[in-house]
Amino acid sequence: MHGHAPKIFFLELTLTALCDLNCLSCEARGKPDYIESEEVSDEDWIEAVRDAVDMSVKRIHILGAGEALIIRDLVYEIVEIIGQNHIYGSLQTSGTLFTEKLVRKMVETGFDSVYISLDAPDPETNDYLRGKAGTFDRIIQNIKAFNLWKNKIRSGFPELYFTPVLTSKNYDKLDRMVLLAKKLHVKTIRAQPLLVDPSNPLGRELMLTRDQMGQLQDSIQSLVDLADREGIENNFRQLVPEIVEESCALGDVIKKDMKKKHKHGLLEVPCFEPWIFLGIDSTGTIKTCPNEPGKGNPYNIKTDELKSVWQNERYENIRKTFLDGRIMPYCQNCCGIKILEITEIKEKIIAGYNEDMGRGE
Ligand SMILES: C[S@@+](CC[C@H](N)C(=O)[O-])C[C@H]1O[C@@H](n2cnc3c(N)ncnc32)[C@H](O)[C@@H]1O
Ligand code: SF4
Ligand code: SF4
Repeated sequence: MHGHAPKIFFLELTLTALCDLNCLSCEARGKPDYIESEEVSDEDWIEAVRDAVDMSVKRIHILGAGEALIIRDLVYEIVEIIGQNHIYGSLQTSGTLFTEKLVRKMVETGFDSVYISLDAPDPETNDYLRGKAGTFDRIIQNIKAFNLWKNKIRSGFPELYFTPVLTSKNYDKLDRMVLLAKKLHVKTIRAQPLLVDPSNPLGRELMLTRDQMGQLQDSIQSLVDLADREGIENNFRQLVPEIVEESCALGDVIKKDMKKKHKHGLLEVPCFEPWIFLGIDSTGTIKTCPNEPGKGNPYNIKTDELKSVWQNERYENIRKTFLDGRIMPYCQNCCGIKILEITEIKEKIIAGYNEDMGRGE
């Protein structure tokens, strides 16, 4: 452990752009960003993770611009380091490529959360959306393997989540997702607003029509009631039209929040990402937000240490921008998923503030 290393909270590792599926909604469909020579070596990934451990990282989130479990030996090694250092570990995955060995390691090391991209509660809809037959069955099999090992060693971890992308094909199936979650001991359903990539006509077809949006809004209360009865945590109440409809150009939602007057000055900071987040994309670029474009950012784990980048002028200037109550140009394209996270952080600050002060925000 280095004495004066700066501390970081959240490290996100986007391990590869390669993928096993062909999801209709996804930019990775057809693997447009996968260039083998640009991917990061396992050695560089492990060095970055060890750097982050030196910086007392609290949480490591693993995912892919494609599917992280394509390089599951590397994931296995990172899971081991996370376990040895008592770091909160989370993984976002298509859920199709687990091995028994990895499942067992995740359970034995007390890995915290596995977010599984199941889009629908039946094989027909799910496999249509995920672009590959057999996907639903493989996911269910893998969830059962987690439950088996969790039972064997009497552990509640990892906690399992369903993270369906909300589309015109599944907006009316969330009730059955709740029942499936209950049956498979999945703790939470966190629906993700659809981001529409203008170059992907398939993605556009998946957008909810005005009518479907109305039906979804009408069903939210009964969905929340059902989930409460079944004990399934969820984010259904957050699926409001403002977030779901414009889910890839939400700078205006942030600007609207910036105009509000808050009793707690901290809440006037538009977003906390540059203080919390350090992300590495599949080519090794080190970012302050996953939405930040890689182009023009010269910092890369192939050549730079995380510690120096976290404290460099570029990071500091971005933080200053937010402290001054402004946002970065790329924030105009902030996405629904991030807005939901910012809202959650602000709600927690308000709750903590109210508890301390014994009064309302
Ligand atoms: C790009 S994937 C990468 C991780 C992994 N391959 C997976 O599918 O979970 C990350 C998440 O984005 C979701 N996703 C894909 N296309 C999306 C879109 N157009 N809008 C919102 N989320 C999307 C996926 O379902 C997944 O939950
Ligand atoms: S599995 Fe994940 S990365 Fe691959 S196409 Fe589907 S959503 Fe995209
Ligand atoms: S794009 Fe969104 S999440 Fe990223 S820094 Fe801007 S406001 Fe924050």
